[in-house]
Amino acid sequence: MNRILITGGCGFIGLNLIAYLMKKPVSDIVVLDNLSTGRKENLHEFDVEFHEGDIRDATLVEKLISSVDSVIHLAADTRVMESIENPDYNFDVNVVGTYNLLRAARNKGIERFVFASTGGAILGDIDPPVHEGIVPRPISPYGASKLFAEGYCSAFAGSYDMRTVALRFSNVYGPRSYHKGSVVAAFYKRIINGLPLIVYGDGTQTRDYVYVDDICEAIYLSLSGEHGGKVYQLGSGKETSINELIKEIKEVVGKDYNVDVQYESFRKGEIRKNYADISNAKRTLGFDSKVKLKDGLRRTWEWFCTNYHRYAETERQH
Ligand SMILES: NC(=O)c1ccc[n+]([C@@H]2O[C@H](COP(=O)([O-])OP(=O)(O)OC[C@H]3O[C@@H](n4cnc5c(N)ncnc54)[C@H](O)[C@@H]3O)[C@@H](O)[C@H]2O)c1
Repeated sequence: MNRILITGGCGFIGLNLIAYLMKKPVSDIVVLDNLSTGRKENLHEFDVEFHEGDIRDATLVEKLISSVDSVIHLAADTRVMESIENPDYNFDVNVVGTYNLLRAARNKGIERFVFASTGGAILGDIDPPVHEGIVPRPISPYGASKLFAEGYCSAFAGSYDMRTVALRFSNVYGPRSYHKGSVVAAFYKRIINGLPLIVYGDGTQTRDYVYVDDICEAIYLSLSGEHGGKVYQLGSGKETSINELIKEIKEVVGKDYNVDVQYESFRKGEIRKNYADISNAKRTLGFDSKVKLKDGLRRTWEWFCTNYHRYAETERQH
């Protein structure tokens, strides 16, 4: 495994993936990021080649792909609510951008292409556990864009013998998530600022929280083996309600922090219950969710306590 192009490498999962790959036999990492949500400053701890640019720029994508052996495609417009307001932009980035990368990879004879898909948004509001056998019925343009992209990954495997893999992540949490609006990051920022946690509904809605290092390992596993055109559902395989999550968080942050909770009405369109059946990924990919929720929450809290102000300052400067 030599040179790897990571799109969206300045984002939450990208930064953690670079940290993870630094401990593996990878000779070079090339990052392509348009810095729409990621920050170049956050790459400071890593020795990587950085290119500021957009995955929709076909010429740039062709040029960068000509120097690598594999592609890990994380860059995306990840904002579900905004995708409902502006589906055109979401389509351009997530569908056209992914197609650009696949086309360039095919032209350059690159086989390995790992695509970051999504567990919940692609399937719609269905009874969990979610798995690869369920017919996807996305209820947002974001979910539809990921399904489109999965389709092209499958088609390029079937038509051009590429070993594309689509990994459907559940709710990923962990260090380097300062800019994210996802629940663990949002709660930790509010706790640090002495604000109450906002829960929409009665807190019984469930999610599958998976620690980011487990996702990084799944990505790494996907770079080898015979996975052409495969789709894997990833997560912890455990169902956790928001109320249970808050209980764990209270224990992690300890008595120095006052954790108040403010319950508001349920948001329309929010999925009530979700967790993943990861048995296929365990069997075929060798994946397992190793980090227990309490441990992952503790590691994430330690990161927030140490890095909150530096990351907040970087955001203020943009
Ligand atoms: N975090 C999760 O819980 C989760 C869950 C399911 C799927 N995913 C998927 O994982 C991937 C990474 O998510 P994340 O949480 O790290 O998000 P993130 O927003 O932190 O990172 C995305 C990165 O992509 C960059 N980017 C966005 N548009 C770009 C473009 N047009 N060209 C180049 N770079 C661009 C951003 O600047 C950012 O650095 C995404 O594809 C997302 O859909 C994440």
